[in-house]
Amino acid sequence: MSVTAEEAFTSTHLARAFEQIVEKRRSVHFYLERDVPRAAIERALELAVHAPSHYHTRPWRFTVFAGSARDELACAYEKAATRIGWHAAPARCRAYEAPVTVMIGCVPDNRHPRVRPLEEEFATAAATQNLMLALTSMQLVSALNSAPWQVSEEVEQLVGIGAGRVVGALQVGYRDPDRELLKRPRPTTAGVVHWR
Ligand SMILES: Cc1cc2nc3c(=O)[nH]c(=O)nc-3n(C[C@H](O)[C@H](O)[C@H](O)COP(=O)(O)O)c2cc1C
Repeated sequence: MSVTAEEAFTSTHLARAFEQIVEKRRSVHFYLERDVPRAAIERALELAVHAPSHYHTRPWRFTVFAGSARDELACAYEKAATRIGWHAAPARCRAYEAPVTVMIGCVPDNRHPRVRPLEEEFATAAATQNLMLALTSMQLVSALNSAPWQVSEEVEQLVGIGAGRVVGALQVGYRDPDRELLKRPRPTTAGVVHWR
């Protein structure tokens, strides 16, 4: 099958754009005090749910906290931190660090006889990566957090996750360019890929 010059051009550009988005995504913990348009979050979530899930169970759940809704999150963080003996004040502050927090949950489909919880969490992680890459493509930044007071029963109660679990809190905003990124080891396949 022959490929037209236009198809070749498009696929090369798509591949390069994808590489750039993957390489650009970093965990960013410092944000500008600038609101994130609701439409951007909505679009990123639409892309997140293109992730695969075994038996199409779609176990991922997202609850978006923005603006004054962050007060509820702050209360839940504070309650959870107090219960488990962490400092309540910094936990509370975390709710306000970013203009938006997307609370990520996983609800395994218990009605399906063959579904295993590990698969459901795996699928939710795939959706989360889609979400982070989509945000990166929109010049937004994010950081996944999973402190015990964030993935806590208090937060689960707040978002009404039922039989599922909250698995992470994704902070989202615009990067503060005056703050450096945290250092990380260079991503490499050395030692983690084995061909047989
Ligand atoms: C499941 C998961 C949970 C994480 N929880 C936290 C967290 O609680 N606090 C934090 O600062 N970073 C957390 N991170 C972010 C990692 O620390 C970060 O991805 C790692 O340092 C690599 O940096 P990068 O995202 O910039 O590539 C988490 C990442 C994952 C995948």
